[in-house]
Amino acid sequence: MRLSSFFYLAGFGIKTILFHKKDPILGTVILTDKCNLKCKHCSVNNLTAIVHPYAQIKEEMNTLYSMGVRILFFCGGETFLWKSEKKTLRDLVKEAKEMGFLIVNVVTNGTFPINLPEADLILLSLDGDRERHNLIRGDTYDTIMKNVEGATKDNICFYMAINQINKGAIEHVCRKAKELKNVRAVSFNFHTPYPDTRQLALSKEEKQACVDVICRMMKEGVPVFNLKSAFPYLVENKFPTPCHQCLVIEDGKISTCGRCIEVEGLCEECGYFFVAEYTLLFQGKLSIVFDMLKTYLKYI
Ligand SMILES: C[S@@+](CC[C@H](N)C(=O)[O-])C[C@H]1O[C@@H](n2cnc3c(N)ncnc32)[C@H](O)[C@@H]1O
Ligand code: SF4
Ligand code: SF4
Repeated sequence: MRLSSFFYLAGFGIKTILFHKKDPILGTVILTDKCNLKCKHCSVNNLTAIVHPYAQIKEEMNTLYSMGVRILFFCGGETFLWKSEKKTLRDLVKEAKEMGFLIVNVVTNGTFPINLPEADLILLSLDGDRERHNLIRGDTYDTIMKNVEGATKDNICFYMAINQINKGAIEHVCRKAKELKNVRAVSFNFHTPYPDTRQLALSKEEKQACVDVICRMMKEGVPVFNLKSAFPYLVENKFPTPCHQCLVIEDGKISTCGRCIEVEGLCEECGYFFVAEYTLLFQGKLSIVFDMLKTYLKYI
């Protein structure tokens, strides 16, 4: 991260904590909900299968920027399926950087060749070892590994959503993240139980067992892009929700925190680590502040 970006974000954090502000800093543009996969834990793919046109996406980027967002995520559906008016996902990343977004990240299922050197981080979903990943995501593990090896930059961060199927495969994903040269880190979420995937949710005891493994992996030097100090809050599901500093825009509609805000009662069972990390940070929890500084400076 550039020093100027660091000072900008630090200034935002200090103002938010001191004056209890609710201005946004992190925004996500949903490029499409179209997806080439149909993962067992996912409730948001192919609901409309519309690929939103370039002009609309550009306007949405402008809207977020004018609202103060400086950390931008492109998400889906599958982001690599996005194409419009001869523009590709890579063009969007470059344009976001030119517009002044300080950090630009992309979330992908990794099944397409990866050539996004301008992205700060590519969050690439890997949901376990070959067997468990493929059980969740179809026969994609080997393709993903090939694409990771062939990526044009070491800006990949594995992204694992831990659920009943893959809770025993955390160590595998950690070891792969450490071993592969194009992978900078691994980041986790717990399954967020939408009404149609409740059976995949983890109990408090199971979440505790998962963070025990993650902590052990961190001790062994695995690069984990999460805040250890937020783990107890995640296990107990005792963190403030929603995250007011995070916005999502999909087809012109802006939601605070996530599209999932509309699912009744879901926030109380939220498994997204970023929500705990950001809300606790902006509450001014000192351990989280220091952990965040250390982690972000290391991986971005
Ligand atoms: C919706 S996908 C979109 C991007 C891309 N298609 C992918 O799979 O990475 C974004 C991330 O959300 C995760 N995810 C989907 N449903 C989830 C749920 N119910 N709880 C937690 N994470 C979930 C996916 O595993 C993926 O890492
Ligand atoms: S690849 Fe991503 S969007 Fe597609 S079904 Fe899987 S989690 Fe959902
Ligand atoms: S806090 Fe609520 S809106 Fe935010 S990600 Fe979690 S479930 Fe979605």
